[in-house]
This record gives sequence, C-alpha cells and structure tokens, in this order.
Amino acid sequence: MHAVVITEPGEPEVLRWLEVPDPVPGPGEVVIDIAASGVNRADLMQRQGLYPPPPGAPPYPGLECSGRIRAVGEGVTAWRPGDEVCALLSGGGYAEQVVVPAGQVLPVPARVDVTTAAAFPETACTVYANVFQVARLTAGETLLVHGGGSGIGTMAIQLGKAFGARVACTAGSARKLARCRELGADVAINYRDEDFVAAVLDATGGAGADVILDIMGASYLARNLAALATDGRLVIIGRQGGSRAEIDLGVLQGKRASVHATTLRARPPHEKATVVAAVRDQVWPLIGAGQVAAVIDRELPMSQAAQAHRAMTASDHIGKILLRPE
Ligand SMILES: NC(=O)c1ccc[n+]([C@@H]2O[C@H](COP(=O)([O-])OP(=O)(O)OC[C@H]3O[C@@H](n4cnc5c(N)ncnc54)[C@H](OP(=O)(O)O)[C@@H]3O)[C@@H](O)[C@H]2O)c1
Repeated sequence: MHAVVITEPGEPEVLRWLEVPDPVPGPGEVVIDIAASGVNRADLMQRQGLYPPPPGAPPYPGLECSGRIRAVGEGVTAWRPGDEVCALLSGGGYAEQVVVPAGQVLPVPARVDVTTAAAFPETACTVYANVFQVARLTAGETLLVHGGGSGIGTMAIQLGKAFGARVACTAGSARKLARCRELGADVAINYRDEDFVAAVLDATGGAGADVILDIMGASYLARNLAALATDGRLVIIGRQGGSRAEIDLGVLQGKRASVHATTLRARPPHEKATVVAAVRDQVWPLIGAGQVAAVIDRELPMSQAAQAHRAMTASDHIGKILLRPE
C-alpha cells in the first residue's frame, strides 16, 4: 500500500506519499481500506517530531478515517469484510489501509456517505468525552467553546446545542464567527478585538460559563477561570497558548470550580472503545437525524498532505480538512 511518510521531522515538505508494507490484522483488529482521513492539528505536531505515536500505533499520521473493512483478525465478530465504517485511530490514517482495534470502529452514520464519515470520529469522540463525560454538561447550562471554527469547535457547538445547552464561542474572524452562528452558537466572540471574559459574563447575567472547552492552555488559564461560573468545569484539550501558567487556587475554591486536562490519543484501546461506544449510542443518532452535520472545508489527495498541513497552519479553514487516497 501507499502511506504519507514523515521522512524526517520538519516542515510540510517532509511528508511523502510512498510505498510501504501492507498492515496485517492481529487478534481483535481489523484492516480498513481507507476512503478518506481527517487532518487534525496533532498531525502537524507529529510531523514536527513533537508528538510521537503511542507504542504499537502505525508511524504514519492520521487519527481518524473512513472506508471499508478489508480483513478481520481472530476473534472479531462485530465487523465483516465490505462493511462501510469509520474509525478512531492512534495513527496511520494518511494511508491506503490501516489496522485498528475493532472496538474503535463505528458504522458510517445514517444519511452520511462513506467519505464524509471521516470527519466525525476524532471530533465526536473528543468533544463527547470531554464536554459530556468529563465536564458533565447538562441541558440549560452554558458551554464556552474556544476556537469555534476549528474541527473540534464546529462539533462542540453542534453537540452543545443538540443536548440543550446555551453555547458561546470564540474565533478570530468575522467569517468564522458567522459560520459558528449558523451552526447554532448563541454568542460568538471575536477574541482578537473583544474581551471574551466580559462578553461571557455579559451574556450570562454575570454568572459565567458552566463548562469551558479550551484549546489554548496557559495563555487562557486565568481568563478562563474568570469566565467560569460557580461549580464550573474547565476542560483543557489543547496547549496552543503554552503549557506553564500559575493558577490562583483562591479563585478555584471561591467558585468550587475544577480544571481538567486530557488527551484522547494516549488513552489505552479499552478506554477508547468505551468512548467510541458512547459516541455511537449518544451522537450517531443525532447525525442520522440531521441535528449534527459534518463541516468539511476541503478535500485533497493524500499526495498533497503537505498542502493540507499548510492550510491548517494558516488557519484559513473552517471545520475539517479531509485527505483521500489517490
Ligand atoms: N486533547 C485531545 O484529546 C484533543 C483531541 C483533538 C484535538 N485537540 C486539540 O483541539 C484543538 C483543535 O484541533 P483541530 O484539529 O480542530 O484544529 P484546527 O481546526 O486547526 O483548530 C485550531 C483553532 O485554534 C483557533 N485559535 C487559535 N488561536 C486562538 C485563540 N487565541 N483563541 C481562540 N481560538 C484560537 C483557530 O481559530 P482562529 O483561526 O479563529 O484563530 C483554529 O480554529 C487543537 O489544539 C488540538 O490539539 C485535542
């Protein structure tokens, strides 16, 4: 098969579409013939040598894919060759085939074509696990989503609304903010020229956000705590604004607030399977009902993975960028 190989850590040009060995399924695993793969910001870090794949994962980038089951390993009964699926991967999505534990595979959602299905696994699992399982967002609460125009953000806005929350979001351009509103955001804040703390407090009558899904980390920590409501939950899933920051425990105590920081990729397969099962149960019906849709910015051939990475670095995309084998 062919895969996008990171020939050495570096700029997008190090990504090359090369012939590599075919994957072989072990017990409990399946091989998927890939129709499409989603690009995630973590792939850019892996390309730069800053985010190595976990032990046992394929070396190629790609945390999600869609396609058809090609072969099943010993003990797999849930899937058969030919089934149309999508999957949460620990790596290897930028390829013609990938091997993955059967528990990380999902059916293509109802009313979605097999290519589009590649836009869902990483965003749906990340948002569901953090906003609903970790932070326990409930109907009537306010969710603040940073980076509302991102792959993660476009999913978080839709899921927040589908579960009955009030959703505020930040983004850096009028075009992205308009798209966030179309997706259901009640409050859309331009972080470049507005103070998101003041805007969230203003929109909630001074109460603040019950849950914040944060992708910035250190640079937003103090402001996130200021924007959090009493009993609020801050979940940090990205560190685009750095890793190290001081925390005022007095603010946490005063608000009885909690701070969580998580990463999905490092979780062991049985935990990923638990998240995937919950997403199939809770999110897939919303996609089938048209309440949650894929937001796809563009599709590119896998040989142009470098171009996809440049576009994501420039951040001129809204939602997902997909790659398709040649
Ligand atoms: N922990 C996990 O398990 C996990 C899993 C998946 C993703 N993530 C993280 O989630 C984030 C989004 O991932 P993605 O793949 O969806 O990437 P993406 O589409 O490239 O999104 C990145 C977003 O960051 C926004 N941004 C940059 N500076 C900002 C600021 N100061 N305030 C608010 N937003 C800002 C950009 O928006 P503008 O262009 O508007 O600035 C852009 O939409 C990444 O940090 C990624 O590492 C974590």
